Amino acid sequence: MIKTFIIAAISLDGFIAKNAEDTSTSWTSGADKKFFMERTKQSGVVIMGSTTYSTIGRPLKDRLNIVYSSKITNLEGVELTMKKPADLLSDLETRGYKEVAICGGASIYTMFLEANLVDTLYLTIEPKLFGKGVSLLNKLTNVSLTLATTKHLSKDVLLLEYKVDRSHP
Ligand SMILES: NC(=O)c1ccc[n+]([C@@H]2O[C@H](COP(=O)([O-])OP(=O)(O)OC[C@H]3O[C@@H](n4cnc5c(N)ncnc54)[C@H](OP(=O)(O)O)[C@@H]3O)[C@@H](O)[C@H]2O)c1
Repeated sequence: MIKTFIIAAISLDGFIAKNAEDTSTSWTSGADKKFFMERTKQSGVVIMGSTTYSTIGRPLKDRLNIVYSSKITNLEGVELTMKKPADLLSDLETRGYKEVAICGGASIYTMFLEANLVDTLYLTIEPKLFGKGVSLLNKLTNVSLTLATTKHLSKDVLLLEYKVDRSHP
């Protein structure tokens, strides 16, 4: 089975962005950016929503870039999709991919978790407090996880790796 992981940076009070229009990634640390680059290159595939893609603005190199959109018809260097997560993953598996990185935003994290198709969750805890903002997920869910590893990416930045319990959808 193809493996999947969510990869996200959150503020200490649990937000992935200050607001939905905030396309800045300047608040995340260099240590997290390095981890993101290395781990997503390992997987070889990045999946994201069109809003998140617009925050990056170009295809991530050395990775297959898949962007969810119902509006965009052509983006150079990117595969656009509207497929159900299960159909997309089985298509990628047929093409020989072994692992994919689910890179956000909230709508894409939620869609894959709701479909019970996420194995691992990487959360980088950045030492920032926003007060309010965009949550990791945009719907009520009840997912159980177990903590697999913790790591200091730098003095102030923690990486948590959780395994998702997929036995209770
Ligand atoms: N901290 C982090 O690690 C991190 C990571 C990623 C994103 N973010 C933040 O998250 C925020 C964006 O999250 P978001 O949830 O608003 O947006 P998003 O998930 O990045 O993108 C949403 C868009 O994806 C497309 N889409 C989603 N589901 C689809 C489906 N089933 N079929 C076809 N298209 C689909 C739609 O685009 P169309 O309108 O084109 O149809 C939708 O408007 C930004 O503020 C960003 O900075 C943070």
